[in-house]
Amino acid sequence: MLWWMYALIALIGYTVLVTILCLKYPERHYNWDDIDTGKLDFPSEFAWGVATASHQIEGGNVNNWSQFESATGKELSGIACDHWNKWKSDFDLIEKLGVGHYRFSIEWSRIQPNESEWNEDAVAQYSAMIDELISRGIEPMVTLHHFSHPIWFEEKGGFLKNENIHHWVSYCEKIFGVLSDRVTNWCTVNEPEVFSIMGYHMKLFPPGMGSIRKTIQVMKNVVEAHATAYHALKKIRADAKIGLAKNVTIFDPLHRWNLIHWITTFILNHIWNGAIISALKRGRMFGRKIPNAKDSLDYMGLNYYTHALVSPFLPQTIEVDLPKRSHEIMTEFGYPMYAEGLKRSVELLKPLNVPIEITENGVADSDDSLRPIHLKRHLWMISEMIKSGADIHSYYHWSLMDNFEWAEGYSLRFGLYHVDYETQERTLRSSGELYRKIVSNE
Ligand code: BGC
Repeated sequence: MLWWMYALIALIGYTVLVTILCLKYPERHYNWDDIDTGKLDFPSEFAWGVATASHQIEGGNVNNWSQFESATGKELSGIACDHWNKWKSDFDLIEKLGVGHYRFSIEWSRIQPNESEWNEDAVAQYSAMIDELISRGIEPMVTLHHFSHPIWFEEKGGFLKNENIHHWVSYCEKIFGVLSDRVTNWCTVNEPEVFSIMGYHMKLFPPGMGSIRKTIQVMKNVVEAHATAYHALKKIRADAKIGLAKNVTIFDPLHRWNLIHWITTFILNHIWNGAIISALKRGRMFGRKIPNAKDSLDYMGLNYYTHALVSPFLPQTIEVDLPKRSHEIMTEFGYPMYAEGLKRSVELLKPLNVPIEITENGVADSDDSLRPIHLKRHLWMISEMIKSGADIHSYYHWSLMDNFEWAEGYSLRFGLYHVDYETQERTLRSSGELYRKIVSNE
């Protein structure tokens, strides 16, 4: 055969392969101008909520994160939203939104500041918070680990060491033992993939390491920690609803005709999404068995923010904007607004065969110019999915109020309420008012 015949055969083969991939994995995009996103149809029992996390709002925490902030010269979380003192008036804010559900996290470093010390005052305060929420008709969802933990735990190697898992489970049992007579909904860990990849590969979260091997080890251990806690807590209260919150990022090839971009997409999708879904569905992750991970969910928490357009040259820092399609709106975090991905995320989680709680969704938007569109598109998407039979029970908007956005500090504002960090004054944004109207069906 002549060389050009080989070249022609290779070209045809390549084209057929890429065409199959494009057809099998479409990148869904809607023409939003043609859609009436105001037309929403939610069942009356749908749970509307807002979400926060302890280290992002409480202030005054001494944990792996505060240690990392000082060590790396990052912006300090400091008193954050001073929520540890202002919790009662912050619950007024939730009430004013008219939502009946609130997801927040317990700060382990407050409950167990030293390995041998339980802080009963902190336990009592969280307990009082639960009573207060319930008395206002707001149902709590409690997260047990949202990126932060005590320094003593970090110094023992944190979740990098499998033998440390029992420390975390003891803390979970302690707080669950006190609150589970009133709290039904529990989220063990927030975003195992974000926690491990940011902290052990990208160096953006504590402990600021850069090792793929450690990233995989931590991801595996965190899922094992979830599973161990799940079974331990179910022994205390069998009808509690326990799950975890997974960040689903949708990966799409930057150039759909480029096979290298497809291969990179599949690899990243497996590391970020597939590995955890596989652990929870089959009890195996990266070829290794994870004890008890199979059947360790009463629901799956979905945190959805964006899709990533992938090439082998994906930025490794958060200072650079990620690529976006030309028609897409760029958010202040530097990634595109892609509500269509919420539907794709729910589809991705379908094999788990459990109900979905949307435990986070929101946008960084300091002047509130994007949040109303963001809110409407994503809620429309959920409403459509429910109409076509998806088992989605709730939506917790991220976030109740502006707060400490981890590696980005206070620069990014995700709140339905604006927070003036000088005066600690909270002000409802127009998007907050919009959410209130949607929730109350006005
Ligand atoms: C985290 C939140 C964070 C939000 C916005 C999620 O991945 O769970 O803590 O503030 O994203 O970036």
